[in-house]
Amino acid sequence: MKQRKILVTSALPYANGGIHLGHLMEAIQTDIWVRFQRLRGHDCVYVCADDAHGTAIMLSAENQGISPEQLIDNVNAEHQRDFKDFLIQFDNFYSTHSSENKQLSESIYAALKANGHINRRSIKQLFDPEKGLFLADRYITGSCPKCKTTDQYGDNCEACGSTYSPAELIDPKSSISGATPIEKDSEHFFFDLPAFTDMLKAWTRSGTLQDSVANKLSEWLDDELQQWDISRDAPYFGFEIPDAPGKYFYVWVDAPIGYMASFKNLCEHSEYEFDDYWQSGQDTELYHFIGKDIINFHTLFWPAMLTSAGYRTPSAVYVHGFLTVDGTKMSKSRGTFINARTYLDHLNPEYLRYYLAAKLSSGIDDLDLNLEDFAQRVNSDLVGKVVNIASRCAGFISKGFDGFLAEKPDNPTLLEELQKANENIALLYDQREYGKAIRIIMALADLANQYINDKQPWVIAQTDKQSLELQNVCSTGINAFRLLICYLKPVLPTMAASAEEFLRVKPLQWQDSENILLSHKINKFFPLMTRVEMDKVQAMVNATQIDFEKHNSTTTKPAKNTSGLEPEIEFDDFAKIDLRVAKIANAELVDGADKLLKLSLDLGTDKNGDALSRTVFSGIKSAYKPEDLIGMHTVVVANLKPRKMKFGVSEGMILAAGPGGEEIWLLEAHNGAKAGMRIT
Ligand code: MSP
Ligand code: ZN
Repeated sequence: MKQRKILVTSALPYANGGIHLGHLMEAIQTDIWVRFQRLRGHDCVYVCADDAHGTAIMLSAENQGISPEQLIDNVNAEHQRDFKDFLIQFDNFYSTHSSENKQLSESIYAALKANGHINRRSIKQLFDPEKGLFLADRYITGSCPKCKTTDQYGDNCEACGSTYSPAELIDPKSSISGATPIEKDSEHFFFDLPAFTDMLKAWTRSGTLQDSVANKLSEWLDDELQQWDISRDAPYFGFEIPDAPGKYFYVWVDAPIGYMASFKNLCEHSEYEFDDYWQSGQDTELYHFIGKDIINFHTLFWPAMLTSAGYRTPSAVYVHGFLTVDGTKMSKSRGTFINARTYLDHLNPEYLRYYLAAKLSSGIDDLDLNLEDFAQRVNSDLVGKVVNIASRCAGFISKGFDGFLAEKPDNPTLLEELQKANENIALLYDQREYGKAIRIIMALADLANQYINDKQPWVIAQTDKQSLELQNVCSTGINAFRLLICYLKPVLPTMAASAEEFLRVKPLQWQDSENILLSHKINKFFPLMTRVEMDKVQAMVNATQIDFEKHNSTTTKPAKNTSGLEPEIEFDDFAKIDLRVAKIANAELVDGADKLLKLSLDLGTDKNGDALSRTVFSGIKSAYKPEDLIGMHTVVVANLKPRKMKFGVSEGMILAAGPGGEEIWLLEAHNGAKAGMRIT
């Protein structure tokens, strides 16, 4: 077989949050494919990086009081640890904020410009006058112009589904500063995507994409493509556009170039040659694994940019669906927004690798992690079927034959059956039909177990612990186990390594499934995988929920030090807190939130006599019915920076006391307290 030279990527996770199970589904899908290719003897390089640029990262650093560089360094280290602990075998995990990426982005831009594919024009956008920042749609909230529902994002209404431009919102507010945005002109740079319409029509239909993806794209391609806005104004965390002071490349320009940059960085300390993989006309292959939310960036903008700049285009873009947990979108309040580290604190990464493999296909359908099914599936397949084969045979080999396998198997037909499946399973892995591959492998495991049931080695051993038949039967079982491990190795690298140790063999390659082990001494059996325990799964869910509550509740903040007190603050710090009496004008349940109520607070009037109000999300649902709260008074921190939460922007905090649960008390002000009174 000719050795293929393959470069593979997973999408670059944003550097402003942790790795969660959704990211991992993608990394695991990619990693299985990469490991499979390597086991087949191909040269398969796998690179990734953090996507470190953009407004979100700039703001998140600001909130944490650190520089964006500091933030992305911290996050990069954390991301690398998470991926490594899920056995993702990157050759390089880099960052888009790198010198290689800056240089490549600049040179690609220069090529686009020289080819006449860049144009400039002034556009109107909403601008936050307090922050001095142009606002992307998601940073603007207001009431829907159609149905008047409050707290809707800048581009569409969650209540009635209508879409609009942020300028159409009623009473729009910047969710960053709370200021009312103004319209402002600014010159932007555009990439001439329409010039690539014909190229893209051909490329997307040339076998590079799954049919469902190509079909979706042809709808877009039949409409007119638009010029793509590739610049953002300062302040922005990214690369400044050459000869355009104050203008930056939009994060989605340098993000895919980050694939090249990560590979380039790898080339600097390895034998790989950059041009072998990125110039056109080479016989290397390039594959991007991505989620269905970022199709247009990878199948329209990216191939068009590469083409303009004279680079090769991807051999294929492989799109997957989204991971849901227990049937719904991952949700923090339900405890199903599971971070990589939370999972690892409780469960073995190979459980997840196996479960996802068993459910993955080459399609773009969503995949559900059903936690009960997860435990049951892993236990019955891996522990109950695969490991069971070895554990039922190994003891007799150790005890009766000094660890030696027989000179010939008892049942060559069974082993031939397992070996015959080799090419079929390989084809399915190559096509990313892992679910189908796993089904075949488990059917073979069933055959092997059935064989052992029929032969009943434990019965043979009762009469003669050293009979040739016993050795032959158990050697057949052990060989069946070895073949299954060989097939499962892309999915379960650690379990395979343990099995190799038990079998006393060198690391298995795919083609080792063509032979079998005879007259070979194996080690004593040790458990290769333990069962998933449902209480560990539950503990993981609980930990996820606790994480969420820590960040969202007014009352459940755990003590930070042994005295149970927060660190001392200066009087000046205290004086900064604007505490006021507020009247609860309205209280309502929040769809999808288990702990939160949405409170509309009346804070009296400001010094100009204008009504002051605040919307606050508060974790007091366990203690109060919304209708009982209306009309009550409470104390509010009126000058807390507004915070974007999943359900909307929270503009303050109310003060309450109590141990939690049903015992949370608002500080009901005594009669005569008036909304707006400062607490002195
Ligand atoms: N930074 C961009 C990608 C740039 S690639 C040049 C981005 N980052 S992301 O962190 O939001 O997502 C990274 C990848 O994870 C994407 O492919 C995305 O589809 C995938 N997933 C994020 N959540 C997911 C699920 N719940 N399920 C499966 N994949 C998901 O987009
Ligand atoms: Zn609406």
